[in-house]
Amino acid sequence: MARRAFAAILPHRPDETMTADVTYLPEDPAHDPEIAHINEEAFGPGRFARAAYRIREGGPHERALSFVAVIGGAVVASVRMTRVAAGEGRGLLLGPLAVRPAFKNLGIGRRLVAMALHAATEANAAAVLLVGDEPYYGPLGFKRVPRGQVSMPRPVDLDRILAVEIEPGTLVRFVGEVRHADQVEMARTAARNS
Ligand SMILES: CC(C)(COP(=O)(O)OP(=O)(O)OC[C@H]1O[C@@H](n2cnc3c(N)ncnc32)[C@H](O)[C@@H]1OP(=O)(O)O)[C@@H](O)C(=O)NCCC(=O)NCCS
Repeated sequence: MARRAFAAILPHRPDETMTADVTYLPEDPAHDPEIAHINEEAFGPGRFARAAYRIREGGPHERALSFVAVIGGAVVASVRMTRVAAGEGRGLLLGPLAVRPAFKNLGIGRRLVAMALHAATEANAAAVLLVGDEPYYGPLGFKRVPRGQVSMPRPVDLDRILAVEIEPGTLVRFVGEVRHADQVEMARTAARNS
């Protein structure tokens, strides 16, 4: 099966890499308190009401596919990835992505997205979805999911649901509500056993 190469936006491997004084690392449980603080700072209390947050509440995120940027020993940015499902589609939800205000516009956000996409490709994910601004994510390979094809467990601007197909042609399999993959698997197991 042909898989997309992210060569244009993926100059680096998703292991420990250095650019100037920024170090990019796979996420570790020790980073959790700083990541919580960064997300609180970026999204405020309203983050709990977001559709993507509701999906992520359904189970754990994938640490192996999630990354942080560190400067001077402090975490300054984070991106997380969570397994999701919709209809027959199986993939990953990217987010939250947040960079501390003092370190914005240094290319850190773009680099974290590229690392997450690279890791998703290596993990044989079919597609990566997110809720976000097309002007930011478009140049990184994301396109709008056709309006109405998928929904979310809370109201969301449908024009902000974006996706990258890693496995070409796979996005059509994502139909209906996007949920945490664990929730979908649990529901299927319960249905089989009833
Ligand atoms: C959005 C965010 C992750 C970008 O990270 P960053 O490291 O500052 O961004 P980068 O350095 O990779 O990219 C900077 C470029 O993106 C642009 N950009 C930043 N946010 C943007 C947005 N929401 N829409 C369009 N363009 C945006 C900048 O203007 C800049 O453009 P330029 O290169 O032409 O000067 C960061 O601003 C942030 O944490 N914001 C608050 C949380 C948030 O909104 N997260 C995204 C959720 S969808």
